[in-house]
Amino acid sequence: EKGGYDYFMLKEIAEQPQAIAETLLGRLTEQGEIRLDEVRLTDQDLRDVDKIFIVACGTSFHTGMVAKYAIEHWTRIPCEVELASEFRYRDPVLDRSTLVVTISQSGETMDTLMALRHAKDQKARVLAICNTNGSTIPRESDAVLYTHGGPEIAVASTKAFLTQLVACYLIGLHLAQVRGIKYADEVGAVVAQLQEMPDKLRTLLDRMGPVRELARDLASSNTVLFIGRHVGYPVALEGALKLKELAYMHAEGFAAGELKHGPIALIDQGTPVVCVVPSPAGRGMLHDKIVSNIQEVRARGARTIVIAEDGDEAVLPYADHLISVPRTPTLLAPLVTTVPLQVLACEIAAARGHDVDQPRNLAKSVTVE
Ligand code: M6R
Repeated sequence: EKGGYDYFMLKEIAEQPQAIAETLLGRLTEQGEIRLDEVRLTDQDLRDVDKIFIVACGTSFHTGMVAKYAIEHWTRIPCEVELASEFRYRDPVLDRSTLVVTISQSGETMDTLMALRHAKDQKARVLAICNTNGSTIPRESDAVLYTHGGPEIAVASTKAFLTQLVACYLIGLHLAQVRGIKYADEVGAVVAQLQEMPDKLRTLLDRMGPVRELARDLASSNTVLFIGRHVGYPVALEGALKLKELAYMHAEGFAAGELKHGPIALIDQGTPVVCVVPSPAGRGMLHDKIVSNIQEVRARGARTIVIAEDGDEAVLPYADHLISVPRTPTLLAPLVTTVPLQVLACEIAAARGHDVDQPRNLAKSVTVE
């Protein structure tokens, strides 16, 4: 059932183009409007929303971090992202006009479920993004948007992450349309870009040979650091989480702007640093900032592994290893920049002789507290 792959994880990485296409299927009208059929909240309910909280754990939390950038940009609704295990034990300010979005692949994660109940007790509306039909979290929510990614067997989340991102983009765009705000003009263009993603991912997956080679090379490292800015920051966190859970290696993700506030002291001769670089188009300043961060870490001895867009020549002088990804607008870029990090973690774990699909101490669905 691994379909010729050595691990379920590799199979699920390869399924990502199709999984994304499934998440988009039937949700876009010919006029380029977003239709979220399984969302049982009226347009008026959505117009009344004045605050959004996204709550989730692990990789799903990283989805939420990316979603915040997109949702706030497109809708201008304040959006907070919080770990479910923190949210549920504090006293967040919620009411009927708060939309709480839970993100959970399994739909059974105990902390996320408890956060949902905590939100409902305070009359907030709850929308679940979930990959598992009929699981507890969507059953207890006011609305659900299923990701349709198909079953994810490997403990490490891959296609669930990408499809959750797509679901969050759809929700952000839908909210923008319903509320008729200025950024609704961008919706058509973003929808077209989302529809190009399956093909872009196929192109990208065909280029993973050098990443595998690099993985064998990095397998003996003691630590790997990841840096990013804006939506590249959660991607850095996700790359580090994958490496911890699969390769049992020390790995940390940082917002690149925080380096000089402490973490840069970790960098020693040969320390691998994975740098997630945004598109030079769009937010040029962001790109320039990370290029200087790459120079800074390299000047202190780091071995830089740079993930940058095709044709980005500014990074070339500072990249010990370059992983090029197809050109993608900034907000959607995590759909491509995450993929090499998944492959890297999987191959490093395999090279270290670990059970990629069933890492030690972990369960696919964390139904305990
Ligand atoms: O099923 P969920 O999305 O609620 O699971 C949340 C986390 O337990 C999960 O994403 C975990 O972090 C993954 N093993 C990471 O690869």
